[in-house]
Amino acid sequence: MLVSLKKILEKAEKQHYAVGAFNINNLETIQAIMTAAETELSPVILSTSEGAIDYAGMEELAALAHIAAKKTKLPVVFHLDHGKNYDLVVKAIKSGWYTSVMFDGSSLPFKENAKKTKQIVALAHKKGISVEAELGAIAGIEDFVSVEEQDAHLTDPEQAIQFVRETGCDALAIAIGTKHGAFKFKGESRLDYARLKKIAEVVNVPLVLHGASGIPANIKRICTQYGCEISSAKGVADASVKKAITLGVRKVNIDTDLRIAFDAGIRKFLAESPEVFDPRKILTPAKELMTKVVRHKMKTFGSSNKG
Ligand code: G3H
Ligand code: 13P
Ligand code: ZN
Repeated sequence: MLVSLKKILEKAEKQHYAVGAFNINNLETIQAIMTAAETELSPVILSTSEGAIDYAGMEELAALAHIAAKKTKLPVVFHLDHGKNYDLVVKAIKSGWYTSVMFDGSSLPFKENAKKTKQIVALAHKKGISVEAELGAIAGIEDFVSVEEQDAHLTDPEQAIQFVRETGCDALAIAIGTKHGAFKFKGESRLDYARLKKIAEVVNVPLVLHGASGIPANIKRICTQYGCEISSAKGVADASVKKAITLGVRKVNIDTDLRIAFDAGIRKFLAESPEVFDPRKILTPAKELMTKVVRHKMKTFGSSNKG
């Protein structure tokens, strides 16, 4: 059943858990996510990035997501992730396929980000589509040379109040020290919980944690054993994500953990079964590993049995 982001996150807010937003690029990833959702009885958000749309096509991904949503009683959100291209976000809204879009104006000056987000909200709300917006730079605390530089890039609570009030967005992606991709931290994972707590206290829309992949040790081990160069990869620990949820995060974005699970499954299978060339057989272990990862996330986020 397709639902809006607003609806799914309202329930999460009341019951203090978070819903996973998993990036999709192909049929196998959608199947893996939906198998996990059915097993865990969890609501789920299927996210398409601009890169995924370039790769697979908006219409194609929408068709796959809509079929998956039709086949389940669980709440499913079909979401545009990091829409930086204003026209693409408008296209997604007009298509009638999306139940949620993210307009990512985080690289724009505050005023311009707020202005464009507000315009997107007006268009989307007319059609009952939710809007996620972003304020701050999701880049990782260690990317900055000083505390001052870091502070200037993380989400400012006072600005967040003004931004949400001016734009009317339904969810806000915040920067508290996470980073996209597999190489998030050099040492221990560090998130600015005090900042998150403050934002959650003053902002009245659900908060979104991007760059939340954990780089699970078992998956990383298989990847590296079979030749993938990710030995220095480091993600956000499960305990850190749980703490962020306790402090008010209601949507957690995961892409990299699915990518490395897919990679691990394929590399291991091909190395161990040189005689096989049937793509269905090659992709099955990749799908199974992705399902395991997603099930683990749903348990960690507290969304299991909330569907
Ligand atoms: O937030 C970014 C997601 O991991 C999507 O990445 O733009 O390479 O598809 P992508
Ligand atoms: P990861 O790279 O940590 O999986 O983050 C994904 C994300 O934030 C997608 O929007
Ligand atoms: Zn993101």
